[in-house]
Amino acid sequence: MMRLAVFASGEGSNFGALIRAARRQELGATLALLVTDREEAGAISRAQDAGIPHVMLLPRPAETFGERLLATLKRFQIEGIVLAGYLRHIPAEVIHAFPNRILNIHPSLLPAFGGHGFYGMRVHKAVLAYGCKISGATVHLVDEHFDTGPVVLQDAVPVLDSDTPETLAARVLSLEHELLPAAVRLLASGQLRVEGRRVFHPLSP
Ligand code: GRF
Repeated sequence: MMRLAVFASGEGSNFGALIRAARRQELGATLALLVTDREEAGAISRAQDAGIPHVMLLPRPAETFGERLLATLKRFQIEGIVLAGYLRHIPAEVIHAFPNRILNIHPSLLPAFGGHGFYGMRVHKAVLAYGCKISGATVHLVDEHFDTGPVVLQDAVPVLDSDTPETLAARVLSLEHELLPAAVRLLASGQLRVEGRRVFHPLSP
């Protein structure tokens, strides 16, 4: 099975969803490593509870981040990468070493409310401020920029008049926990066919 590294900077609830799917033999991949950039990431205790090795890699000095990442991924024989709430930019040499094998999940319907500075509550605040009637989540392949790679899966949730950024975030997050494992299954089973910006797979409508 494909050996995956999950990158997480925060709570790691998406990482938790992947762990649960793997436990149910529904991921079709091995969660072989957690990479984080913060000692206090909640994802670390999830990795420890699940017996998954974790490494802390600081992006500074930037000049060596790419080679340090690649050396670590090689050491753990990693074949694919999932960014699950990871806030750092992935160096170009890592993207080139894993062509169409790096997934990211973003809590909006990209390209709306994506790109530099759009993360966490900022996304949901912007969606509410704009007056959108739906929002959602996007899983996409990672390219050299933030949130701009080809879309693998998207799904929508309603935005309620009564919503706060927190209530909207919670609704989107529970959708993320469905979408990310489904996208990882497609990646791990080699079912993603990428043609330019378009990604074709069996879950495509
Ligand atoms: C999620 O909203 C995800 O879309 C975004 O960062 C958040 C991570 O949440 N990339 P968690 O750490 O997985 O709970």
